[in-house]
Amino acid sequence: MAKKVQDALKDLVSLCKRRGFIFPGSEIYDGLANTWDYGPYGSELKRNIKDLWWRKFVASRPDVLGLDSSILLNPKVWQASGHVGNFSDPLIDCKACHERFRADHLLEEKLGEGCTVGKNFQDIAAMIVENQIECPSCGKKDFTEPRAFNLMFQTEIGVVEGAGNKVYLRPETAQGIFINFRNIIDNVRPKMPFGVGQIGKSFRNEITPGNFIFRTREFEQMELEFFCEPGTEVEWYGYWKKFCMNWLLQDLGITSKKLRMREHAPEELSHYSNGTSDVEYEFPFGWGELWGIASRTDFDLTQHQKESKVKQEYFDPIANKRYIPYVVEPSLGVDRLLLVLLCDAYDVEKLSDGEERVVLHFHPSVAPVKAAVLPLVKKGKVKEVAESIFQNLISRFNVEYDETQSIGKRYRRQDELGTPYCITVDFDTIGEGDDVDLSKKGKVTIRDRDTMQQELVAIEDLEDWLAKRVR
Ligand code: GAP
Repeated sequence: MAKKVQDALKDLVSLCKRRGFIFPGSEIYDGLANTWDYGPYGSELKRNIKDLWWRKFVASRPDVLGLDSSILLNPKVWQASGHVGNFSDPLIDCKACHERFRADHLLEEKLGEGCTVGKNFQDIAAMIVENQIECPSCGKKDFTEPRAFNLMFQTEIGVVEGAGNKVYLRPETAQGIFINFRNIIDNVRPKMPFGVGQIGKSFRNEITPGNFIFRTREFEQMELEFFCEPGTEVEWYGYWKKFCMNWLLQDLGITSKKLRMREHAPEELSHYSNGTSDVEYEFPFGWGELWGIASRTDFDLTQHQKESKVKQEYFDPIANKRYIPYVVEPSLGVDRLLLVLLCDAYDVEKLSDGEERVVLHFHPSVAPVKAAVLPLVKKGKVKEVAESIFQNLISRFNVEYDETQSIGKRYRRQDELGTPYCITVDFDTIGEGDDVDLSKKGKVTIRDRDTMQQELVAIEDLEDWLAKRVR
């Protein structure tokens, strides 16, 4: 990882560890490079992302069904899909120091914005020489020719080692959907057009993983395969591009100037696609792919029909015609979106008293903790009322109770967790003590994380007040 990139991500990585979002993998055994474990707050954030996606793309849509297919599939699936032959990256070795790199990444780093590196290895080799690409490790300019490095992880099934038992960990969840297409149309009988969505782990033996959780070898995907009549795919491709972008902007509140849609040049397209756009985000290390939206034609179903001999046609009873549907696929990485949400939310603010506060401005719907209940004293009736508010809220929302340290420190901790609301309970709430303001009896003070403004809310209205804001 380049020095500049390390600096840009360093503070975020450190916050993620300090506050229990993301830990380095296998740390007590000196770690395992580029693996990460999601801690209590990270796993909650991840769950919220997956729930929100599922609700928007599957559960709330009558035209989309859900699926949960296996990670291990018959290897013939990957032969048919083209992954065994084509799912590879151009690997080059530095002849001087023997470090290995992705040739396309070295070119993209050197040529920057707007450069297009295609998939033809001869062209890539020529570009490496023409652009005088240096080895990032030793600075020499002497590389091997690019060669195809297949990204699929292999393992063996059963107790007997040897050929015939080889299987792959899936590099995308999509094929699990394609190989169940026949099952779905025969048994569930949806009408065209319809989609099938699934969330699950995928594995790729990436040559250069890195940039924190941006590129890892084990990650989760949220994929939708939307099947439609041939000839309507351009319209649906446009529809899903818009739908996905709106979700990021409106539902998740991601900063619009940090998002853009980039149409692939023909030489960049995957073997199955006749049109692909990436939603890109401006990460601290530059623009990077967040979401791939691809028009996958009928490539996958046609291939599976050829290889399996099982018909993949849909019969349209109204038009009285039979066809293999075309597919539009919005494919999004859970971890990639989580990194976007962290980068977008992260802020270090200078306060009027000269102090600094680190804050995660998460949209309330993704925030891992929705509210924190903070009694101003940790005994007596104030504590009792705070505890009872907490007990009442926790059955519906992920809320925290905190009575340790000063109120200022408790606010700072919740700011770093991205908790949108802090509910304070004090003597005014219980209407007891010297100088209490009786107009505030039975009310709590709610501090807004972003504006730091305070609002009084009656205890009996709290649940509704919160529900309106965090769902
Ligand atoms: N089924 C199509 C497909 O898998 P992709 O563009 O290779 O397309 C889709 O991947 C999304 O999965 C990417 O946009 C990214 O969000 C996520 N993704 C892919 N490789 C990843 C990796 N190594 N680490 C984390 N996320 C990854």
